[in-house]
Amino acid sequence: MTGFQLAENISLQGRNTFRVPARAAMLADVTDADSLAELFDYAMLRDGNPVLVLGEGSNLLFADDYPGVVICLTMAGMRMIGENSAGALVRCEAGANWNDLVGWTLARGLVGLENMALIPGTVGAAPIQNIGAYGAEAGEFIETVEAFRRDTGQIKRVTKADCEFGYRDSLFKREPDVWVVTAVEFRLPRERELRLDYAGVHEELAAMGVTQARAVHVAEAISRIRTRKLPNPAILGNAGSFFKNPIVTIDQAEALKSQHPALPIFPGVSADSRKISAAWMIESCGWKGYREGDAGIAAQHALVLVNYGNASGAQLLDLARRVATSVHEKFQIALEPEPRIIGARFDNTSRE
Ligand code: FAD
Ligand code: EPU
Repeated sequence: MTGFQLAENISLQGRNTFRVPARAAMLADVTDADSLAELFDYAMLRDGNPVLVLGEGSNLLFADDYPGVVICLTMAGMRMIGENSAGALVRCEAGANWNDLVGWTLARGLVGLENMALIPGTVGAAPIQNIGAYGAEAGEFIETVEAFRRDTGQIKRVTKADCEFGYRDSLFKREPDVWVVTAVEFRLPRERELRLDYAGVHEELAAMGVTQARAVHVAEAISRIRTRKLPNPAILGNAGSFFKNPIVTIDQAEALKSQHPALPIFPGVSADSRKISAAWMIESCGWKGYREGDAGIAAQHALVLVNYGNASGAQLLDLARRVATSVHEKFQIALEPEPRIIGARFDNTSRE
């Protein structure tokens, strides 16, 4: 077997940013995408063992050990595969770190990814939930996703139109047992109007003394805001936002606003929808800064579930369910988790 290495009974605690204990029955480190067919053919997989693709583990909650094979893609090459005066097509392999790609493109005079600086995780995971921040989403710049299809055993090039990108959503997220993303191609321009409208960006640039902002300044400003706002997973285990911001109809948004005038409401995913702030609703239910043993809700940001050290995935999940139940009771809104929960189901309207 070439192109991958197998190991048995491996700890995943250092491979998820919640830093919860969990073990994988088997772990495969893949160094060559062309070996995926052989890996999936490998006897253990043929016997129907489940397979999980794991990046940096920054959007997962292990509620239990993983009984099957965890696959980690380690190929991390980045290169330009086409270039002209207007921009370039950049190809990046799945195992590369997202923020490294952001820096790599900015250093080559390519713009677009700056608002997504410092999002943790791999490039291969970026299309899964169509990562986004500060008014930009990865899907806007993705031209093609190259992915191994587990049902056909072939690598397929999926064009942007077929990726079905949405808010924290994509074709790949909805079909987790079909796709293994192996590389992503981004079309990036050399010039583009900067997006500075997200709350706090202008102020941060001003605090940095920047008067003529360029994309690198925006990346730096957003990195500073993120560092202040969100707990650093290297210090406090977390997976960023634990819940998505709910998308509601305009009528629902107006009804909620009349009852809760301070509820922040943002544009939705279409002209007739609105996005409402999950953080605000969780904070208004009194959870911000709550701690129970080593499981808690960050004092910095109500949308972030945190592990102070020794919380288990099951304890964190239990707390998350109770947060969702209280939001449902107060606002009649069902919160949906953003991270993938492994080894349990999240029933967001269940009562304890
Ligand atoms: P993992 O957590 O390892 O995996 C996430 C999901 O993707 C899993 O379902 C996994 O099976 C699947 N997956 C991973 N790689 C592949 C692949 N190659 N092929 C197929 N499936 C794959 N997200 C945002 O969108 N915006 C933010 O601003 C943001 N801020 C964050 C801040 C913090 C502090 C943290 C900890 C997380 C934040 N996140 C944010 C979430 C996270 O950074 C992203 O979801 C990221 O893309 C996850 O990458 P990962 O490599 O860690 O994926
Ligand atoms: N707010 C509160 N209490 C808090 C925090 C925020 O009431 O403790 C309110 C504030 O009024 C603020 C509003 O919530 O105006 C929005 O807060 P923020 O700007 O922090 O954004 P968010 O909606 O909480 C989303 C993404 C983040 C992304 C930021 C910036 C989701 C689920 N989360 O958070 O993504 O970084 O916007 O674009 O969409 C992630 O996906 O993991 C993530 C961190």
